[in-house]
Amino acid sequence: MLVATGGGDCPGLNTVIRAIVKRAAQERDWEILGSIDAFDGLLRDPIHLIELTEERVSGIHVQGGTILSTTSKGGPFAWPVKNPNGTWTTVDRSDDMLQRLRYQNIEAVINIGGDGSQRISQGLFEKGCPIIGVPKTIDNDLSDTDFTFGFQTAVEVAADAVDKLVTTAASHHRILILEVMGRYAGWIALHAAIAGGAEVCLIPEIPYHLDSIANAIITRRDKQGKGFSIIVIAEGAKPRDGEMQYTENDTPGAMKIKLGGAGLRLTEQLKIFNLGVEIRETILGHLQRGGRPNAFDRVLASQFGVKAFELVLQEKWGHMVAYRHPNIIGVPISDVIKSYNLIDLDSDLVRTARGLGICLGD
Ligand code: F6P
Repeated sequence: MLVATGGGDCPGLNTVIRAIVKRAAQERDWEILGSIDAFDGLLRDPIHLIELTEERVSGIHVQGGTILSTTSKGGPFAWPVKNPNGTWTTVDRSDDMLQRLRYQNIEAVINIGGDGSQRISQGLFEKGCPIIGVPKTIDNDLSDTDFTFGFQTAVEVAADAVDKLVTTAASHHRILILEVMGRYAGWIALHAAIAGGAEVCLIPEIPYHLDSIANAIITRRDKQGKGFSIIVIAEGAKPRDGEMQYTENDTPGAMKIKLGGAGLRLTEQLKIFNLGVEIRETILGHLQRGGRPNAFDRVLASQFGVKAFELVLQEKWGHMVAYRHPNIIGVPISDVIKSYNLIDLDSDLVRTARGLGICLGD
């Protein structure tokens, strides 16, 4: 069997790997190989696979990152190739990958990754690959699962950042803006804002009005006498009449846009309101993805790893493990990749935020 971790790193990847290996050890005769750098390890010449023994995975459930390393570029359907003139193009090497799997006598594949990785899983499954998916992302934007592992750890980091910013904001009477990750979903932002007690939270699901934000800050100052405010903004948040803030990425095989800069843009936008206090921004960035998974994510990742191996035993190819409280189930990957898991504006989470008086920018 082959295991790979794809896309951005995420707390809990090693926990899943360990759980797969431990569960497989209870059956007889399973050799588990790990592909280095997602499926690149299988596609490279020479191939780069490592054996995943119980000894090798011992104790790794608490370690951040992935012992298999990872990449969010390329993959079997978009392998970067340099043209003779120095430009780059991508080629489909999925048939080559299937041939290499056969050559290595690999009878099952577990692909641990987010949306992009599960699209690859589905593509390979449609070509006959015996593959199972495991949902990974701090963004929590994969459909059909209540949570992805890594999300809760990211929220803890973001909420802790809010707590720390409050002390500086209060001491200096500042408006401090915290930009968090999450891609096109506001899960990390909204959870951190509620947990940390932010005054404003801007998420991609609700394009914001600058007037609403300025009013919330002025009302707080005038009614409560509080001269400081914390704004949590998701990297994918956008003004009502604008677009998400991003830079183009021309790396071959990589995602075409890189989100970032929403917080800085908001600082500039709010300056026109002359709110009378300094406005500064902090970008939390990869701190949200690094380090040890928290206990919740370790439990979830362990459940996913054990279930993924059991789906292999049941030959439920083309399925992804998913958390539907209180169960861990298998769902067709074809369903998962149909849409993103975005925040439902009628949900209790949004109602809670509004009930706490958090301005959501609408
Ligand atoms: O999907 C996880 C994530 O951290 C997103 O929140 C973020 O937009 C993206 O990956 C950043 O990716 P990279 O580290 O490759 O720039």
